[in-house]
Amino acid sequence: MTQLPLANESPDGFQVLGRSLELPCGVVLKNRMAKAAMTDSLGNGEGNPTATQLRLYERWAQGGAGLSMIGEVQVDPRFPENPGNLVLGAHSDQESLRSLAQRAQVDGAHLWPQIGHAGAIGSRYGRSAMLGHDDRRG
Ligand SMILES: Cc1cc2nc3c(=O)[nH]c(=O)nc-3n(C[C@H](O)[C@H](O)[C@H](O)COP(=O)(O)O)c2cc1C
Repeated sequence: MTQLPLANESPDGFQVLGRSLELPCGVVLKNRMAKAAMTDSLGNGEGNPTATQLRLYERWAQGGAGLSMIGEVQVDPRFPENPGNLVLGAHSDQESLRSLAQRAQVDGAHLWPQIGHAGAIGSRYGRSAMLGHDDRRG
């Protein structure tokens, strides 16, 4: 297997990281530095972002990341991967999500949610914490 040079071993490695990248879908990332999708447990337990989460993603963007991916953003509050996941749905706090999107995309950074459904491995704690009272039977 061909070993690619690390950025600091290549004469122009750092310039390469700084170059924009056009993806097949047409999106252009301003550089090649991306924060991988990591489940961060920084939601408020009801599927919405906290001030800590807003600040963290803002700092990554201010630090120069071209892309941040949020891990495990759930689409079904019954089966979150953990209680701190963001959960998108009718109950979502649009204002705090909008704030997250704005602050995480300062300086031209992109913010992408990794959409997930934990299914059978869903967190039982998250499940009861995120459901409304009437939904807790099932
Ligand atoms: C604490 C932690 C949480 C992670 N959460 C997710 C996740 O939610 N979704 C995912 O696809 N990968 C997750 N990963 C995997 C990372 O996105 C990444 O693929 C992995 O750390 C390997 O990175 P590398 O390919 O740069 O070495 C997680 C990794 C860590 C360390």
